[in-house]
Amino acid sequence: MATSDRTWVEVSRRALLWNFGQFQHFFRNQALIAPVVKANAYGHGNRWVVENLHRSPIWGFCVAYDTEAEELRRFTAKPILVLSAWQETNLPRLIRHGIRLVVWDLVAARTVARVARRLGRRAIVHLKIDTGTTRIGTRLEALAGLKNFIRRQPALTVEGVFSHYADSEAASLTFTRQQQRRFVQAAHHIPAPYLHLACTAASLRLPLPPTNLVRLGLGLYGLWPSSATRQANRVSLKPVLSWKTRLLQVKSVPASTTIGYHRTYRLRRSSTIGVIPIGYADGYDRRASNRSSVVIADQLYPIIGRVCMNLTMIDLGARRRIQPGTEVTLLGPRVDADELARQWGTINYEVVSRIDREIPRLEVA
Ligand SMILES: Cc1ncc(COP(=O)(O)O)c(C=O)c1O
Repeated sequence: MATSDRTWVEVSRRALLWNFGQFQHFFRNQALIAPVVKANAYGHGNRWVVENLHRSPIWGFCVAYDTEAEELRRFTAKPILVLSAWQETNLPRLIRHGIRLVVWDLVAARTVARVARRLGRRAIVHLKIDTGTTRIGTRLEALAGLKNFIRRQPALTVEGVFSHYADSEAASLTFTRQQQRRFVQAAHHIPAPYLHLACTAASLRLPLPPTNLVRLGLGLYGLWPSSATRQANRVSLKPVLSWKTRLLQVKSVPASTTIGYHRTYRLRRSSTIGVIPIGYADGYDRRASNRSSVVIADQLYPIIGRVCMNLTMIDLGARRRIQPGTEVTLLGPRVDADELARQWGTINYEVVSRIDREIPRLEVA
Protein backbone atom coordinates (compact mmCIF):
# COMPACT_ATOMS: atom_id res chain seq x y z
CA MET A 1 0.00 0.00 0.00
CA ALA A 2 1.22 3.49 -0.77
CA THR A 3 1.89 5.04 2.61
CA SER A 4 2.84 8.50 1.48
CA ASP A 5 -0.65 9.60 0.55
CA ARG A 6 -2.09 12.53 2.40
CA THR A 7 -5.29 10.61 2.93
CA TRP A 8 -6.74 7.33 1.72
CA VAL A 9 -9.73 5.08 2.09
CA GLU A 10 -9.20 1.40 2.82
CA VAL A 11 -11.82 -0.97 1.46
CA SER A 12 -12.05 -4.59 2.51
CA ARG A 13 -12.77 -7.12 -0.21
CA ARG A 14 -13.43 -9.76 2.39
CA ALA A 15 -16.09 -7.59 4.08
CA LEU A 16 -17.77 -6.72 0.78
CA LEU A 17 -17.99 -10.36 -0.27
CA TRP A 18 -19.10 -11.39 3.21
CA ASN A 19 -21.98 -8.89 3.13
CA PHE A 20 -22.95 -9.95 -0.37
CA GLY A 21 -22.93 -13.59 0.73
CA GLN A 22 -25.12 -12.79 3.72
CA PHE A 23 -27.81 -11.21 1.54
CA GLN A 24 -27.53 -13.82 -1.15
CA HIS A 25 -28.13 -16.52 1.42
CA PHE A 26 -30.98 -14.56 2.94
CA PHE A 27 -32.82 -14.04 -0.39
CA ARG A 28 -32.00 -17.58 -1.55
CA ASN A 29 -33.86 -18.17 -4.78
CA GLN A 30 -36.43 -15.47 -4.21
CA ALA A 31 -34.63 -12.55 -5.80
CA LEU A 32 -31.42 -11.54 -7.52
CA ILE A 33 -29.33 -8.75 -6.09
CA ALA A 34 -28.82 -5.56 -8.07
CA PRO A 35 -25.99 -3.76 -6.21
CA VAL A 36 -26.54 -0.02 -5.99
CA VAL A 37 -23.23 1.64 -6.87
CA LYS A 38 -24.33 5.24 -7.30
CA ALA A 39 -22.33 8.06 -5.69
CA ASN A 40 -19.06 6.22 -6.20
CA ALA A 41 -20.59 3.12 -4.59
CA TYR A 42 -21.56 5.12 -1.50
CA GLY A 43 -17.98 6.37 -1.32
CA HIS A 44 -16.42 2.90 -1.56
CA GLY A 45 -15.13 3.25 -5.12
CA ASN A 46 -17.57 2.26 -7.88
CA ARG A 47 -15.00 0.61 -10.11
CA TRP A 48 -13.65 -1.44 -7.22
CA VAL A 49 -17.13 -2.63 -6.19
CA VAL A 50 -18.14 -3.44 -9.75
CA GLU A 51 -14.95 -5.36 -10.43
CA ASN A 52 -15.38 -7.36 -7.23
CA LEU A 53 -19.02 -8.25 -7.80
CA HIS A 54 -19.60 -8.54 -11.51
CA ARG A 55 -18.69 -12.20 -11.60
CA SER A 56 -21.05 -12.95 -8.69
CA PRO A 57 -24.58 -14.13 -9.43
CA ILE A 58 -26.07 -10.65 -9.56
CA TRP A 59 -28.57 -9.21 -12.03
CA GLY A 60 -26.63 -6.04 -12.78
CA PHE A 61 -25.78 -2.68 -11.23
CA CYS A 62 -27.87 0.37 -10.35
CA VAL A 63 -26.62 3.94 -10.58
CA ALA A 64 -28.35 7.28 -10.18
CA TYR A 65 -27.14 9.10 -13.30
CA ASP A 66 -26.45 8.32 -16.92
CA THR A 67 -22.88 9.59 -16.59
CA GLU A 68 -22.20 6.98 -13.90
CA ALA A 69 -23.63 4.28 -16.14
CA GLU A 70 -21.35 5.26 -19.01
CA GLU A 71 -18.34 5.27 -16.70
CA LEU A 72 -19.12 1.77 -15.41
CA ARG A 73 -19.88 0.31 -18.83
CA ARG A 74 -16.10 0.16 -19.33
CA PHE A 75 -15.75 -2.27 -16.42
CA THR A 76 -18.70 -4.63 -16.76
CA ALA A 77 -20.90 -6.17 -19.41
CA LYS A 78 -23.69 -6.77 -16.85
CA PRO A 79 -26.90 -4.73 -17.13
CA ILE A 80 -26.64 -1.21 -15.70
CA LEU A 81 -29.82 0.59 -14.70
CA VAL A 82 -30.05 4.38 -14.40
CA LEU A 83 -32.40 4.90 -11.45
CA SER A 84 -32.75 8.66 -11.27
CA ALA A 85 -31.86 10.86 -14.24
CA TRP A 86 -30.60 10.88 -17.81
CA GLN A 87 -30.10 13.74 -20.23
CA GLU A 88 -31.63 13.62 -23.68
CA THR A 89 -28.35 14.55 -25.35
CA ASN A 90 -26.74 11.38 -23.92
CA LEU A 91 -29.53 9.03 -25.00
CA PRO A 92 -28.00 7.86 -28.30
CA ARG A 93 -24.87 6.64 -26.51
CA LEU A 94 -26.84 5.13 -23.64
CA ILE A 95 -29.16 3.23 -25.96
CA ARG A 96 -26.27 1.97 -28.08
CA HIS A 97 -24.55 0.73 -24.90
CA GLY A 98 -27.67 -1.09 -23.77
CA ILE A 99 -27.94 0.98 -20.59
CA ARG A 100 -31.31 0.42 -18.92
CA LEU A 101 -33.17 3.70 -18.56
CA VAL A 102 -35.69 4.77 -15.96
CA VAL A 103 -38.90 6.11 -17.53
CA TRP A 104 -40.91 8.18 -15.11
CA ASP A 105 -43.72 9.67 -17.17
CA LEU A 106 -45.14 10.13 -20.65
CA VAL A 107 -42.74 12.93 -21.53
CA ALA A 108 -39.75 10.76 -20.62
CA ALA A 109 -41.20 7.77 -22.51
CA ARG A 110 -41.80 9.87 -25.63
CA THR A 111 -38.25 11.22 -25.52
CA VAL A 112 -36.63 7.79 -25.22
CA ALA A 113 -38.91 6.30 -27.91
CA ARG A 114 -38.15 9.14 -30.34
CA VAL A 115 -34.38 8.80 -29.95
CA ALA A 116 -34.51 4.99 -30.18
CA ARG A 117 -36.63 5.17 -33.37
CA ARG A 118 -34.21 7.63 -34.89
CA LEU A 119 -31.32 5.24 -34.12
CA GLY A 120 -33.25 2.25 -35.42
CA ARG A 121 -32.69 0.55 -32.04
CA ARG A 122 -34.78 -0.62 -29.10
CA ALA A 123 -34.28 1.15 -25.81
CA ILE A 124 -34.51 -1.02 -22.69
CA VAL A 125 -36.53 0.76 -20.03
CA HIS A 126 -37.70 0.29 -16.45
CA LEU A 127 -40.92 2.08 -15.55
CA LYS A 128 -40.78 3.89 -12.23
CA ILE A 129 -44.03 4.07 -10.33
CA ASP A 130 -44.57 6.59 -7.57
CA THR A 131 -46.27 4.60 -4.81
CA GLY A 132 -45.93 7.35 -2.20
CA THR A 133 -42.34 8.53 -2.06
CA THR A 134 -43.30 11.39 -4.34
CA ARG A 135 -40.00 11.82 -6.03
CA ILE A 136 -39.30 10.56 -9.55
CA GLY A 137 -41.97 8.19 -10.88
CA THR A 138 -45.35 8.14 -12.56
CA ARG A 139 -48.34 8.85 -10.36
CA LEU A 140 -50.71 5.90 -10.20
CA GLU A 141 -53.46 7.99 -11.84
CA ALA A 142 -51.24 8.51 -14.88
CA LEU A 143 -50.07 4.92 -15.21
CA ALA A 144 -52.79 3.78 -17.64
CA GLY A 145 -51.87 6.53 -20.13
CA LEU A 146 -48.20 5.63 -19.91
CA LYS A 147 -48.92 1.93 -20.40
CA ASN A 148 -51.08 2.65 -23.46
CA PHE A 149 -48.36 4.74 -25.01
CA ILE A 150 -45.64 2.17 -24.36
CA ARG A 151 -47.71 -0.71 -25.72
CA ARG A 152 -47.71 1.04 -29.10
CA GLN A 153 -43.96 1.69 -29.13
CA PRO A 154 -41.89 -1.10 -30.65
CA ALA A 155 -38.77 0.98 -29.96
CA LEU A 156 -39.26 0.51 -26.20
CA THR A 157 -38.65 -2.79 -24.43
CA VAL A 158 -40.04 -2.74 -20.92
CA GLU A 159 -37.63 -4.90 -18.98
CA GLY A 160 -38.64 -3.76 -15.52
CA VAL A 161 -41.18 -2.03 -13.34
CA PHE A 162 -40.09 -0.57 -10.04
CA SER A 163 -40.82 1.76 -7.18
CA HIS A 164 -38.97 3.00 -4.10
CA TYR A 165 -39.99 3.13 -0.45
CA ALA A 166 -40.16 6.37 1.50
CA ASP A 167 -39.88 5.11 5.02
CA SER A 168 -38.88 1.48 5.23
CA GLU A 169 -36.17 2.28 7.84
CA ALA A 170 -38.71 3.69 10.30
CA ALA A 171 -40.08 1.88 13.35
CA SER A 172 -43.56 1.69 11.85
CA LEU A 173 -43.97 -0.24 8.62
CA THR A 174 -47.57 0.81 8.00
CA PHE A 175 -46.79 3.17 5.13
CA THR A 176 -44.24 0.74 3.68
CA ARG A 177 -46.87 -1.99 3.56
CA GLN A 178 -49.24 0.43 1.87
CA GLN A 179 -46.61 1.22 -0.79
CA GLN A 180 -46.03 -2.48 -1.26
CA ARG A 181 -49.74 -3.13 -1.86
CA ARG A 182 -49.95 -0.24 -4.32
CA PHE A 183 -46.94 -1.52 -6.21
CA VAL A 184 -48.14 -5.09 -6.45
CA GLN A 185 -51.53 -3.93 -7.70
CA ALA A 186 -50.09 -1.53 -10.27
CA ALA A 187 -47.24 -3.71 -11.54
CA HIS A 188 -49.42 -6.78 -11.82
CA HIS A 189 -50.90 -5.50 -15.10
CA ILE A 190 -47.62 -4.65 -16.80
CA PRO A 191 -45.80 -7.46 -18.55
CA ALA A 192 -42.11 -7.13 -17.66
CA PRO A 193 -39.50 -9.74 -16.75
CA TYR A 194 -38.32 -7.83 -13.67
CA LEU A 195 -40.21 -6.23 -10.81
CA HIS A 196 -38.26 -4.53 -8.04
CA LEU A 197 -39.08 -2.55 -4.98
CA ALA A 198 -36.99 -3.45 -1.94
CA CYS A 199 -33.87 -1.67 -0.70
CA THR A 200 -31.73 -2.82 2.26
CA ALA A 201 -34.17 -1.95 5.04
CA ALA A 202 -37.32 -3.28 3.38
CA SER A 203 -35.64 -6.46 2.23
CA LEU A 204 -34.64 -7.31 5.80
CA ARG A 205 -37.80 -6.19 7.55
CA LEU A 206 -40.64 -7.43 5.35
CA PRO A 207 -41.21 -10.54 3.30
CA LEU A 208 -40.40 -9.71 -0.31
CA PRO A 209 -43.52 -9.04 -2.36
CA PRO A 210 -43.75 -10.90 -5.69
CA THR A 211 -40.68 -9.23 -7.15
CA ASN A 212 -37.47 -10.76 -8.44
CA LEU A 213 -34.77 -8.11 -7.88
CA VAL A 214 -33.57 -6.30 -4.77
CA ARG A 215 -31.74 -3.02 -5.22
CA LEU A 216 -29.20 -3.36 -2.46
CA GLY A 217 -27.10 -0.39 -1.38
CA LEU A 218 -26.12 0.40 2.18
CA GLY A 219 -26.25 -3.15 3.54
CA LEU A 220 -23.78 -4.34 0.94
CA TYR A 221 -21.29 -1.86 2.40
CA GLY A 222 -21.83 -3.31 5.86
CA LEU A 223 -23.89 -0.44 7.25
CA TRP A 224 -27.39 -0.39 8.70
CA PRO A 225 -30.08 1.99 7.40
CA SER A 226 -31.56 2.25 10.91
CA SER A 227 -31.59 0.61 14.31
CA ALA A 228 -34.95 -0.99 13.45
CA THR A 229 -33.25 -2.69 10.49
CA ARG A 230 -30.37 -3.88 12.63
CA GLN A 231 -32.80 -5.22 15.22
CA ALA A 232 -34.52 -7.36 12.60
CA ASN A 233 -31.35 -9.43 13.05
CA ARG A 234 -31.50 -11.21 9.71
CA VAL A 235 -27.91 -10.88 8.54
CA SER A 236 -24.57 -10.10 10.08
CA LEU A 237 -22.72 -7.23 8.38
CA LYS A 238 -19.13 -6.01 8.31
CA PRO A 239 -18.31 -2.40 7.45
CA VAL A 240 -16.22 -2.30 4.29
CA LEU A 241 -14.56 1.10 4.57
CA SER A 242 -12.08 2.92 6.81
CA TRP A 243 -10.76 6.42 6.16
CA LYS A 244 -7.24 7.41 7.20
CA THR A 245 -4.69 10.19 7.18
CA ARG A 246 -1.38 10.98 8.87
CA LEU A 247 -0.31 13.58 11.38
CA LEU A 248 1.22 16.50 9.54
CA GLN A 249 2.54 18.54 12.46
CA VAL A 250 2.84 17.95 16.20
CA LYS A 251 3.55 20.88 18.51
CA SER A 252 3.36 21.86 22.17
CA VAL A 253 1.23 24.87 23.01
CA PRO A 254 0.67 26.61 26.33
CA ALA A 255 -2.56 26.87 28.32
CA SER A 256 -5.04 29.52 27.14
CA THR A 257 -4.01 29.19 23.49
CA THR A 258 -6.99 29.34 21.13
CA ILE A 259 -7.30 26.90 18.28
CA GLY A 260 -8.25 27.61 14.67
CA TYR A 261 -10.71 29.88 12.92
CA HIS A 262 -13.05 31.95 15.06
CA ARG A 263 -11.13 30.77 18.14
CA THR A 264 -13.91 28.40 19.21
CA TYR A 265 -11.64 26.36 21.49
CA ARG A 266 -9.26 27.53 24.23
CA LEU A 267 -6.84 25.13 25.89
CA ARG A 268 -7.35 24.88 29.64
CA ARG A 269 -3.89 23.36 30.14
CA SER A 270 -0.76 23.19 28.06
CA SER A 271 -1.06 20.42 25.52
CA THR A 272 0.28 18.76 22.42
CA ILE A 273 -1.65 19.59 19.29
CA GLY A 274 -1.71 17.48 16.15
CA VAL A 275 -2.60 18.93 12.78
CA ILE A 276 -4.02 16.59 10.11
CA PRO A 277 -4.26 17.44 6.39
CA ILE A 278 -8.00 16.83 6.16
CA GLY A 279 -10.90 19.20 5.94
CA TYR A 280 -14.45 19.70 4.86
CA ALA A 281 -13.33 19.89 1.22
CA ASP A 282 -12.47 16.18 1.58
CA GLY A 283 -15.94 15.37 2.91
CA TYR A 284 -14.96 15.48 6.58
CA ASP A 285 -17.90 17.52 7.80
CA ARG A 286 -17.37 20.88 9.46
CA ARG A 287 -19.89 19.82 12.08
CA ALA A 288 -17.12 17.59 13.47
CA SER A 289 -15.62 20.79 14.92
CA ASN A 290 -15.20 20.43 18.71
CA ARG A 291 -17.36 17.31 18.52
CA SER A 292 -15.85 14.26 16.80
CA SER A 293 -12.73 12.26 17.57
CA VAL A 294 -10.07 10.46 15.58
CA VAL A 295 -8.18 7.30 16.50
CA ILE A 296 -4.42 6.90 16.86
CA ALA A 297 -3.06 3.54 17.97
CA ASP A 298 -6.49 2.54 19.25
CA GLN A 299 -6.93 5.68 21.39
CA LEU A 300 -9.50 8.40 20.77
CA TYR A 301 -8.35 12.02 20.46
CA PRO A 302 -10.80 14.92 20.19
CA ILE A 303 -11.01 17.38 17.34
CA ILE A 304 -10.55 20.86 18.72
CA GLY A 305 -11.48 24.10 17.03
CA ARG A 306 -13.17 24.37 13.67
CA VAL A 307 -12.56 21.84 10.94
CA CYS A 308 -11.07 23.96 8.13
CA MET A 309 -11.34 23.42 4.40
CA ASN A 310 -8.08 21.42 4.31
CA LEU A 311 -6.72 21.12 7.86
CA THR A 312 -8.02 19.96 11.22
CA MET A 313 -6.53 20.08 14.71
CA ILE A 314 -6.63 17.40 17.38
CA ASP A 315 -5.69 17.44 21.03
CA LEU A 316 -3.02 14.84 21.75
CA GLY A 317 -2.94 15.77 25.44
CA ALA A 318 0.26 14.68 27.11
CA ARG A 319 1.24 12.35 24.23
CA ARG A 320 4.23 14.40 23.12
CA ARG A 321 5.99 11.43 21.64
CA ILE A 322 3.51 10.90 18.80
CA GLN A 323 5.44 11.70 15.64
CA PRO A 324 4.40 13.51 12.48
CA GLY A 325 3.57 10.82 9.94
CA THR A 326 1.69 8.70 12.49
CA GLU A 327 -1.43 7.09 11.04
CA VAL A 328 -4.75 8.61 12.10
CA THR A 329 -8.13 6.92 11.56
CA LEU A 330 -10.96 9.32 10.77
CA LEU A 331 -13.57 6.62 10.22
CA GLY A 332 -13.16 3.01 11.25
CA PRO A 333 -14.14 0.51 13.92
CA ARG A 334 -13.82 2.91 16.89
CA VAL A 335 -15.39 5.89 15.13
CA ASP A 336 -17.86 4.37 12.75
CA ALA A 337 -20.16 5.98 10.20
CA ASP A 338 -23.13 5.75 12.58
CA GLU A 339 -21.26 7.59 15.31
CA LEU A 340 -20.08 10.32 12.94
CA ALA A 341 -23.59 10.61 11.50
CA ARG A 342 -24.99 11.14 14.99
CA GLN A 343 -22.38 13.80 15.76
CA TRP A 344 -22.85 15.55 12.43
CA GLY A 345 -26.64 15.49 12.55
CA THR A 346 -27.02 13.37 9.42
CA ILE A 347 -27.22 9.74 8.28
CA ASN A 348 -24.45 7.21 7.64
CA TYR A 349 -25.34 7.26 3.90
CA GLU A 350 -24.19 10.88 3.73
CA VAL A 351 -21.03 10.35 5.80
CA VAL A 352 -19.62 7.72 3.43
CA SER A 353 -20.97 8.99 0.12
CA ARG A 354 -19.44 12.43 0.57
CA ILE A 355 -15.86 11.24 1.03
CA ASP A 356 -14.18 12.98 -1.89
CA ARG A 357 -13.93 10.63 -4.84
CA GLU A 358 -10.43 11.88 -5.66
CA ILE A 359 -9.10 10.27 -2.46
CA PRO A 360 -7.47 6.93 -3.34
CA ARG A 361 -9.38 3.77 -2.42
CA LEU A 362 -6.94 1.03 -1.43
CA GLU A 363 -7.95 -2.57 -1.15
CA VAL A 364 -7.07 -4.36 2.06
CA ALA A 365 -7.77 -8.03 2.75
C1 LIG B 1 -34.10 4.12 -6.14
C2 LIG B 1 -33.22 3.50 -5.11
N1 LIG B 1 -33.22 2.17 -4.99
C3 LIG B 1 -32.45 1.53 -4.07
C4 LIG B 1 -31.63 2.25 -3.23
C5 LIG B 1 -30.79 1.50 -2.21
O1 LIG B 1 -31.17 1.76 -0.92
P1 LIG B 1 -30.31 1.21 0.31
O2 LIG B 1 -28.98 1.85 0.20
O3 LIG B 1 -31.06 1.67 1.51
O4 LIG B 1 -30.25 -0.26 0.16
C6 LIG B 1 -31.60 3.63 -3.32
C7 LIG B 1 -30.76 4.40 -2.39
O5 LIG B 1 -30.95 5.50 -2.02
C8 LIG B 1 -32.41 4.28 -4.29
O6 LIG B 1 -32.41 5.61 -4.42
